[in-house]
Order: sequence, then structure tokens, then C-alpha cells
Amino acid sequence: MFVMDHVFEEGICFEGQYRVAKVGHKYTRYHNPYMIVHLQDITGIIPAYCWYGRYHGPKQLSTHDIVHVCGTMNSFLENWQVSADSLEVLKESDINPSLLVPVDICPRRDLLVHLARAVDQISAPSLQRFVKRILNDDEIMSRFATVPASGRYHHNYPSGTLEHSLECVEVVQRMPGLNNSERDLAVVAALFHDIGKIRTNKIGGMTQEGFWVHHNALTCEILGDHLKSLDCDWPDAAYVLRHIWSFLHKGPTQSRSSLAGLVAYADQYSAERAQEKAAFADQKTWKTAVKDLNGNLRMRLREAA
Ligand SMILES: [Fe+2]
Repeated sequence: MFVMDHVFEEGICFEGQYRVAKVGHKYTRYHNPYMIVHLQDITGIIPAYCWYGRYHGPKQLSTHDIVHVCGTMNSFLENWQVSADSLEVLKESDINPSLLVPVDICPRRDLLVHLARAVDQISAPSLQRFVKRILNDDEIMSRFATVPASGRYHHNYPSGTLEHSLECVEVVQRMPGLNNSERDLAVVAALFHDIGKIRTNKIGGMTQEGFWVHHNALTCEILGDHLKSLDCDWPDAAYVLRHIWSFLHKGPTQSRSSLAGLVAYADQYSAERAQEKAAFADQKTWKTAVKDLNGNLRMRLREAA
């Protein structure tokens, strides 16, 4: 259960899986040691007090550990907290990793819920495992959930890359005529097509690496370890994903499959839609904008670019 979905009542049972936000080791006034673990998910954060007399579990934890916690809810000085009975560090959680992204890393709960839904809709278990492993990779996820998609072109604000990637996912999900495997592969390719931006983009501009390296050149490098795992689980899927991402990098010089074309189209569509939205943000309706399509639209798109 999410942090904020619990019933906030004295003595009520508290149980669930969360990410560790912060750990503190302290002493009571009688010099008894105890530990405070701040638990968080996409809904919020709550401190769990581990009193060593009653608490069973590890006494050393790290930030971003995923833990299963059992305890009771209580309030102190009008603040809600958990008295933890037990805590276990999980290597892999059965909870969708998108839902455990700390709220302080990505405040866009709407995007993370959307992401969780997209992951749940992947029908091939091996591909779903592949995606979850990537989303559980803190080094990747902490940046994927925050970096803008561009400096000033489109989705140029915090979490813009995630928003743009999810728009691409939505486009390929709606494409008729695909079988389940093709749809799954297109969704995963669209979701991570801009993962290179975690190294090339930053809030307010580009990283030093971004000046030298195109983000598309980094996709297979960043996802390399995870692709190797997929090579064992479902080799054909790993080949297709590499094909799509390398097509996006090389462009028309490389022969492409229809799936690569579809992901490239979704990418362009999302970027252009965002540009249009920005260009016409001050217009009352789309209708007023298209009245002067030839002049007004082109001029505004030029200004937005
Ligand atoms: Fe893109």
C-alpha cells in the first residue's frame, strides 16, 4: 500500500514496500540506540522508528534500498510515524519499480503512474523483466525521471524526457495491425529511445558529454548490461531493439524495419506536437490558430524552435 493510502489512525497496522530515503542512527534520553528510516514512494514519505528492543531486521541500510516493512502507525507531536516491528531489504520487489521512484526525485506522479501502466501492459514476461530491471537501476532511473528532453526545442523542462518517451509509447500502443510481440517491442523501443539523454542533457542545458556525443549513440551503451540479460531471455527481442535504436542513430543510411519507422514517427510526432502546443499556448483554441495556417503557424513554429 502507498504511503499516503494508509489509514492514519493510532495503532493501526502499517505494511508495505518502500524505498529508503534517509537513515539516521540516534539515542534515546536513556542512551538506548534506535534507527529512523524514512520510507518513500510516489505518494509521499513517512519516518519509521526502529526501537531495538522490539525491532527485528538489519541495523545498517542504504539510501534507495527497497524494503518491506511491518509495524504500527502512531502520531507524535501531531506528526504521523511508524513504529517498525520488522524490516527486510528486498533484492527485487514485486511492486512496479515506477511506483517506488521517490517523490523528491520525480514529483510528476502522473508520469510515474502512466509509466507503471505502460510496463504492466507489456505482455511478454521477458520483456517486462527487462524494463523493470532498467527502472530498478537507480543510476538510470534517477536521471531518466528528471532530465529535460532538450534545451529549448521540445519538452525542455524537468522530467521532459520521461513525458516525451511516454507520449511516444502512447503513439505506438495505438498503432493498428501489430501483434502482441511487435507492440511490446515498439513500446520498449519507444520508452527508452532517448535514454542517452540521461548523459547528454541536464536541467538548463547540455552536459559536457552532450556537446560531443549524440544521445542516440549512447542508448545501447547505457542499456548494455540489461541487453545482455535479454540476450539470454529472448535473443530475438534484443536484436530487434538494437536494430531500432541503431536505426534512430544512423538514420536513413541504414535499412529499416516497419517497427523502427514507427518509433521514429512517434518520436517526431511527440516532438512536433509539443512544439505546436508551445507555439499556440496563448491561443484560445486550435481553430483560431489554423485560420492563418500558412503564415501564423510557420512563424510560431520558427519562433518556438
Ligand atoms: Fe525523442
